[in-house]
Amino acid sequence: MREHIDKLFEIIGGLKASTVQEVEDARVKLLGKKGEITKLFEEFRTVPAEQKREFGQILNKLKTAAAAKVEELRQSVDSNPEKGATSMDMTIPGDIFELGSRHPVSIVREEIISIFDKLGYVVAEGPEIEDDWHVFSALNFPPEHPARDMQDTFFVTTGNDNPILLRTHTSSVQVRSMESRPLPIRIICPGRVFRNEAISARAHCIFHQVEGLYVDKNVTFADLKQTILLFAREMFGEKTQIRLRPSYFPFTEPSAEVDVSCNICGGKGCNICKGTGWLEIMGCGMVDPNVLEACGIDSKTYSGFALGMGVERIAMLKWQVKDLRHYFENDIRFLKEFSTAL
Ligand code: DAH
Repeated sequence: MREHIDKLFEIIGGLKASTVQEVEDARVKLLGKKGEITKLFEEFRTVPAEQKREFGQILNKLKTAAAAKVEELRQSVDSNPEKGATSMDMTIPGDIFELGSRHPVSIVREEIISIFDKLGYVVAEGPEIEDDWHVFSALNFPPEHPARDMQDTFFVTTGNDNPILLRTHTSSVQVRSMESRPLPIRIICPGRVFRNEAISARAHCIFHQVEGLYVDKNVTFADLKQTILLFAREMFGEKTQIRLRPSYFPFTEPSAEVDVSCNICGGKGCNICKGTGWLEIMGCGMVDPNVLEACGIDSKTYSGFALGMGVERIAMLKWQVKDLRHYFENDIRFLKEFSTAL
């Protein structure tokens, strides 16, 4: 009996299996109703009383070793389906993983950044919770300007001479960059902005802007116009025309609003461009000398241009989305339409 037990220990030590069936066979052979170990337990009854203790212990060890080995083999077979030895049914169709995709606003933001990246602009960012200086005062907003009103701007603190507020435009990053970066400056500033607006198809209290700024010696309006033309053609197609209309912003002089020829009707007039053939895409202008000086830049030596656009607006034009609210509702049916856009 002792020899038999030793032999079985040896067999268990060397057991191998590559299929579920082989594991099961080994289990039956050792531990099944008529298995070797089961039989030994029957034989155990005939062991003389003085040897029962010793044999009992060895037999229990043998049984535990066999059970552990069978379990070990079962796990190795389960976790190794490639050996063709598996309980897995390879004919069952796989689970479909739904891949996520970029949000349309992110797609457009990245596209804008990459166009300016080619022109040597670097991304600059600033805080969403800002102070009055960076959002208004340094940008030449007069004290009585309506944007400083609670009706238009979300204030965090009021009362002192530099209230804290949620930035209403990314032009604040211009100021931070001019205050801290060495000249020349060529930056593009994407970010979220906040305005105290009623939510509608055309307005939202949170949206995204991208601001561009170039400050150097001898920067002219011609540089601004050519930069915008290049941007418009990259963004909306190489036949795109631009038109600059005189406008007013406190922080630029002269200022302009930029239209692109309607990419839907090619300029003939349609319901997207309301029959005009043109679509407004951004504001721009030459940085007002007061702004340069407020940021510590000598306005006699340096000049610059700035431009700013709404990301949702560009995305709406690009994909002819008529209601701005779609961008914020995260309706999966809407978002799925952009899953192949980039
Ligand atoms: N900050 C302006 C806005 O939010 C957009 C803008 C207009 C930015 C003209 C500029 C600019 O840099 O030159 O409406």
